[in-house]
Amino acid sequence: MTARVLNGKELAEQVRATVRAGVADFVKAHGRAPGLDVIIVGEDAASVVYTRNKEKAALEVGMRGNLHRLPAQTGEAELLAIILRLNDDPSVDGILVQLPLPKHIDSDKVILAIDPSKDVDGFHPVNAGQLAIGRADRALVPCTPRGCMKLLALAGTPLAGARAVVIGRSNIVGKPVAQLLLAEHATVTIAHSRTRDLPAVCREADVLIAAVGKPEMVRGDWVKAGAVVIDVGINRVSDSANPGKTRLVGDVAYDEAAERAGAITPVPGGVGPLTIACLLENTLLSAKRRAG
Ligand code: GUN
Repeated sequence: MTARVLNGKELAEQVRATVRAGVADFVKAHGRAPGLDVIIVGEDAASVVYTRNKEKAALEVGMRGNLHRLPAQTGEAELLAIILRLNDDPSVDGILVQLPLPKHIDSDKVILAIDPSKDVDGFHPVNAGQLAIGRADRALVPCTPRGCMKLLALAGTPLAGARAVVIGRSNIVGKPVAQLLLAEHATVTIAHSRTRDLPAVCREADVLIAAVGKPEMVRGDWVKAGAVVIDVGINRVSDSANPGKTRLVGDVAYDEAAERAGAITPVPGGVGPLTIACLLENTLLSAKRRAG
């Protein structure tokens, strides 16, 4: 079997088009554009690119976007003060602090400082808790997990009763995507670095989500024939075919897995584009809820 390739770029463009129309309606109704403020502390090259892309994407759908680039030595108190100011600013609908933060800043404390109604990452314990008690309708739900669910919908995968295996237990992806799958009545296993016989656990999966950050860890023979494979990993590795160059790979050995899977996401062009599209959706949702 050769897997169907789930085109995240195309799907993300559809989501953005819907958000763009929603933003235009919001502006008509409320006389202002939804606003997204993105904060980055430090100069991590990949994070700088991600945050610039988030600001650009907001502007491109007609939102107000603002990127706050703070030096690596910014103190925790200074960062918290900026967040409190944005919490109080009625023109701000979404606040996103790019992770990871430098070691001298307590990221839990920073996430806790964000007004939950503006927490477009969905990382605040209030939003994580709403999701955990089955009230995603009241929460802001993390963007990458929502992107994974949109790709599963695109694949047409029946989730009720399906066996889903999520590799990775992070607060950003693993735990929330497991909650979303559970809400759709899947039987969910969260696997991680201490899981015994991970290949055998994965072979049980009708839906396999890899979110570990280990290049090409999931091999072809870990994939059940016909399974849907969602690869959240974005890993830069040296390119053996082009000495001195690098390339992006996922957490899944794509060519091997594609021979067995029913559907699979590529890297790049799979989950990645949907993360930003879902961030825009969350920002519009936050603006609408806050406007009543
Ligand atoms: N770092 C990696 N992914 C994310 C994300 O989705 N949001 C934030 N804020 N930081 C990240």
